[in-house]
Amino acid sequence: EKSGYAHFMLKEIEEQPRAYRDTLGGRIDEQDKSIVFPDMLMGLEQIRDMEQIHLVGCGTAYHAALVGKTIIEQLTRIPVEVDVASEYRYRQPIITKKTLVIAVSQSGETADTLAAITQAKLSGARVLGITNVVGSSVSREADFQLMTWAGPEIAVASTKAYTSQLIALYLLALYIGQSKGSIEQSLRAELIDKLNKLPEQVQSLLANTSQIQRIAEQIAAFKDLYFMGRGLDYMVAMEASLKLKEISYIHSEAYPAGEMKHGSLALIEEGTPIIALATQEHVLEKTISNIREVKARGAYVIGIAFEGNLELAKAADEVIYVPRTDALLAPALSVIPLQLLAYYTALARGNDVDKPRNLAKSVTVE
Ligand code: F6R
Repeated sequence: EKSGYAHFMLKEIEEQPRAYRDTLGGRIDEQDKSIVFPDMLMGLEQIRDMEQIHLVGCGTAYHAALVGKTIIEQLTRIPVEVDVASEYRYRQPIITKKTLVIAVSQSGETADTLAAITQAKLSGARVLGITNVVGSSVSREADFQLMTWAGPEIAVASTKAYTSQLIALYLLALYIGQSKGSIEQSLRAELIDKLNKLPEQVQSLLANTSQIQRIAEQIAAFKDLYFMGRGLDYMVAMEASLKLKEISYIHSEAYPAGEMKHGSLALIEEGTPIIALATQEHVLEKTISNIREVKARGAYVIGIAFEGNLELAKAADEVIYVPRTDALLAPALSVIPLQLLAYYTALARGNDVDKPRNLAKSVTVE
């Protein structure tokens, strides 16, 4: 039931603080500032044995996996590859007994993701399923499972499932890091404290949507728009672009900010909207110089940055601010205004937000 909301999508966006809390719930030992996974059953030996990780998923789950790669590599120093599930199975990936294959799937029923699991198991790898549906095919096929507790997701466009996948991947990266001893106790404690703050920070982002509604009205008239960012901001840009195109039907693409000048700058015309994510402050100067490049060609730039980032305010035409957190955790906040932007843009265009044309919630055919 929509419980008073106009659409399931808006209800599900607003459920995110609860979904974060439930996905974190019972998995943090606050005394010890460590991660506990009573439900996952992956032993220390298996973790120490692991030489590489492959993450697979489709669509939004693939985008969560991309964020997963960055955080797992940073916190564990285990090499991680990410594949779209439908590509993985046909490219003869190098899978060994020391590979952990992580399948990410909200429904746990996506045909391509299930086929990737079969492939992985035939090659002797262990499989961890990250799913949102208890008893789903992915959770049954996998050797280990890590549930996201987003609750049923009805809208075709995935929102709370994506962010819950991010939370699960943060916990997993910390867990592997603590098991391998690759992460300092102090950094672990700091990240755990910051994870615990996310639900409240998301709540504050949901409380004020007037700026986003105004920008949505503006961009609804355009045929094309672009997202750009570096590092984790680029990963979120890809998800934001998918969300916008699937429900607003506006053509959009996401680019690594530094790539624009290698071809795509040619697309920029007077007034073209560009959403520039700039939460990754170790590359802020670089991103700002990319913003200058697109502005010089006439783009209208909407920045996404942490509160207090005045440099971006000077470089962009306007900025949507998100509460400050660790750079690694930024995707769990920066995606929220972009989900809302997709929602309000689709609404402004009079589209069926919960059931976009040509799409199904669960893709059980190849
Ligand atoms: C986009 C969306 C899809 C799904 C994809 C995978 O908003 O929802 O891209 O993410 O079809 O579905 P699951 O996660 O159920 O495997």
